[in-house]
Amino acid sequence: MEKIFSVTLAGGKKTDVFFASSRDSFIDDGFIVTDSNAMQHLGGRRPDVVLPPGENEKNWSSVDTILSSALSAGLARDSLFIGFGGGVILDMTGFAASVYMRGARLSLIPTTLLSMVDATLGGKTGIDYCGGKNLVGTFFPAESVIIAPWTLKTLSGKEYRSGLGEVLKHAVLSSDERLFHFLEENRDAVIARDDDIITEMIKLSLEVKISYIERDPEEKKGIRSALNLGHTFSHALESYMDYGVSHGEGVAWGMEAAIRAGVALGITPDDLAKRTLSLLSMYGYDEDYAIDDFDAYFSAIGKDKKKSNGTVKFILMEGQGRPVLRELSGKDVMHAISKS
Ligand SMILES: NC(=O)c1ccc[n+]([C@@H]2O[C@H](COP(=O)([O-])OP(=O)(O)OC[C@H]3O[C@@H](n4cnc5c(N)ncnc54)[C@H](O)[C@@H]3O)[C@@H](O)[C@H]2O)c1
Repeated sequence: MEKIFSVTLAGGKKTDVFFASSRDSFIDDGFIVTDSNAMQHLGGRRPDVVLPPGENEKNWSSVDTILSSALSAGLARDSLFIGFGGGVILDMTGFAASVYMRGARLSLIPTTLLSMVDATLGGKTGIDYCGGKNLVGTFFPAESVIIAPWTLKTLSGKEYRSGLGEVLKHAVLSSDERLFHFLEENRDAVIARDDDIITEMIKLSLEVKISYIERDPEEKKGIRSALNLGHTFSHALESYMDYGVSHGEGVAWGMEAAIRAGVALGITPDDLAKRTLSLLSMYGYDEDYAIDDFDAYFSAIGKDKKKSNGTVKFILMEGQGRPVLRELSGKDVMHAISKS
């Protein structure tokens, strides 16, 4: 296994990121929590907890199942919890590990693109609660993250695209242009999920995420929140469309809206706007979701973020890798989301 990064997080805790090179023995000895889709990649290892798949399962009851199974299995404080699956499994395994005997050990093996590039680093754990996403959780960085790119081969096209939306976001947030160029130059191989190409893409994408979280591990300085580029527009779209749009598709759409808003306010330079919109369209993220009821959409934004005087703060781009936080009025938002 090749160690690629060592990331320093909250409280000086370190997460080591490895890329598995072979399907043999890439999973440490430990208490494996997975779901019924991801478990096919365990390669003969027996899971300790298998949960049903999906965001609906991200709740107390699943965490209760993990904790009670851990107790029955006799796990101690120095035992290793291994989350093996998409973001839902990883967030819950992390949460369970963080509260088990006041904190056990944790390793994460992501098996969706979204979780590889977005949900393993940074220490956020949690569950959905009372209808709100991730309302209960902890900061608990894993001691190791193991990326096994071949697991992505069985991911549905929809889930793969959902992760790609976050990768495109990282390309715009990066302080250099390597990921941007890489995506422009390797579109077909990225879409075909070529092993070497996606390995490189994930590394470049993780570098961007790391550069933001290391400077602001607990999201207190306003640096890490830039990773939410496109997300305020996107969360409102997801809620407006009753979750009929995947998270990454929404993020790509929201990024376009953020770029349009930035151009309208004279913040985002035309060349970055042009290049970003062309990258989004190259990857087929140019869906025009019709927002017929703007008031309903805008009120969904209000629910997502704190509003003051009818305005909400959004991440906009002053340039490649240069995010800024700006308030947008209802009129600005309406302009940003109407393509025609
Ligand atoms: N902790 C963080 O920093 C962070 C960041 C971003 C997202 N998240 C969380 O991650 C979750 C979304 O993650 P996700 O998109 O991975 O969703 P997910 O975990 O629901 O996985 C999506 C689907 O893919 C299936 N699946 C997983 N691996 C597979 C494989 N290799 N082959 C076939 N099917 C497979 C799952 O069973 C599920 O049906 C959300 O709950 C979100 O809040 C957390």
